[in-house]
Amino acid sequence: MHPLPLTLLLLSSLAAVNAGSTARGGQCNQGNNRLQTGTYQFWSECTATNFCSDAGVCEAKTCRKDDFPFGYAQDSHEIPDKCPRGEFCPDEGSGCQALIEVGNPCQMDRDDQCQAPPNFRELTDDTGRGRNFNGSVCLNNVCMWANATLQNNCTVENTAYIAYEVGGEFINIVSRDNCALGLYCDSSQRVCLNEKALNEACTADKECQSWNCLETGVCGKPSAEPHHFGIYVYILVALGIFGGMFGTLISLFFMHRKQRDADREKRLQYWKEQNAFHQNLKNMRETARMSILSLQDRSARSTMYSRNDDTQPIMQSVGTKSSGLRNYMVRDDGSDYDDGVMMQPTKRTQDGNRF
Ligand SMILES: *[C@@H]1O[C@H](CO)[C@@H](O)[C@H](O)[C@H]1NC(C)=O
Ligand SMILES: *[C@@H]1O[C@H](CO)[C@@H](O)[C@H](O)[C@H]1NC(C)=O
Ligand SMILES: *[C@@H]1O[C@H](CO)[C@@H](O)[C@H](O)[C@H]1NC(C)=O
Repeated sequence: MHPLPLTLLLLSSLAAVNAGSTARGGQCNQGNNRLQTGTYQFWSECTATNFCSDAGVCEAKTCRKDDFPFGYAQDSHEIPDKCPRGEFCPDEGSGCQALIEVGNPCQMDRDDQCQAPPNFRELTDDTGRGRNFNGSVCLNNVCMWANATLQNNCTVENTAYIAYEVGGEFINIVSRDNCALGLYCDSSQRVCLNEKALNEACTADKECQSWNCLETGVCGKPSAEPHHFGIYVYILVALGIFGGMFGTLISLFFMHRKQRDADREKRLQYWKEQNAFHQNLKNMRETARMSILSLQDRSARSTMYSRNDDTQPIMQSVGTKSSGLRNYMVRDDGSDYDDGVMMQPTKRTQDGNRF
C-alpha cells in the first residue's frame, strides 16, 4: 500500500497550482471548463474564488461544497455558505441546486448531488469508505441508487488517478459501483459478489471486507486498524516505570547515606577538637588558680594558720567532668552538648546515660 496522506498532500499542493488566472469581471469561456488530468479536479479559466457564468464573465462563487474551500483567506468574509439539505453546490460554485433525480446526469464523484432512495437508511454507507452518499451514487455521470443485490447486474466505474510519491508517480485505480453494502461489483462478470473475509484471495481492495488487499494477494487487516501490543509490552513498560522510580529512590538514599555519614564524622571530629580545647583551657585555668592559691596559701601561712578546703573539690570535679564529657562525646554526635563545667559530677553521669 502507498502512503495515502503523503499522496493527498501532494495532490492538494498540485491542486493549488491548477486554478485559472482570469480575475473577477474578466472574460471567460465555459467551454474550457474541464476536469484536470490525473486529479479530476474541476478547472475553469477563472481564479479559485470565481466561476465562469453563462454570460462568459468571471463572477464570485455563491456556494461551496468543501468545509475549507481553496483560494480564500482564512478570515475572509467572502467565503460563501454551503447549501442546505435537499440542495447541492455544483463544482463550479455557481449556486445551490435541487438534488438530481435517479437516472439523470451528475458531476463526477458527486454522489451528494443525487436524490436519496426511499430505503436510504438501509443502503447508506456509514463505514467511512465513501461508497455512496445517503444510498445514492454517481457512476459514469449518472445518478443511481446503491441497491444492486447479490448475483445481479451492477454498474462499475474505474477511475485511474495519478498519485505521487517520493521519487515518482503511480496510477491509483479507484473502482466504484452500485452494489449494496457488503457486496462488490466484480469487474469481469459485472455482477455483485460478497465481500471477502480475512485471508481470502483478492485482486483489489474493494473485494475485501477490510478494504485492504495485501500485495501477497489475500485480504489483510484494515490498514486503519490500530496496532495492538501484547500484554507483555504493558508489563515491561510498567516494570520499566517502577524500576526507574524505585531505582532512583534507592540510589538517592544510598548516596545521601554516604554523605550523612561523612557529615556526622566531621561533626564528631569538630566536637572532639572543641572538647580538647575546652580541657586545655580548663587545665590552664586550674593551673593558674592553683598557683595563685598556693601563693596565697604560702603568704597566709606566714601570717596565720588557716586550712583552705576549696582546693580539693575543684580538682576532683575537674577529673570526673573531663572523663564524663568524653564519654558523652563518644556516644552522641555532640549536637546538643552543653557546658560540663557548670555541672556537678553526679548530674553529669545522668546526662551521659541519656540515650
Ligand atoms: C437522506 O435522504 C433523506 C430522504 O431524502 C433526507 O431526509 C435526509 O436528510 C438525507 N440525509 C442527508 C445526510 O442528506
Ligand atoms: C434500484 O435502483 C434503481 C436505480 O438505480 C431503481 O430503478 C430500482 O427500482 C431500484 N430497485 C429497488 C429494488 O429498489
Ligand atoms: C444483466 O446484463 C446482461 C447484459 O449485460 C443482460 O443480458 C441480463 O439480462 C442482465 N441481467 C439482469 C438480471 O438484469
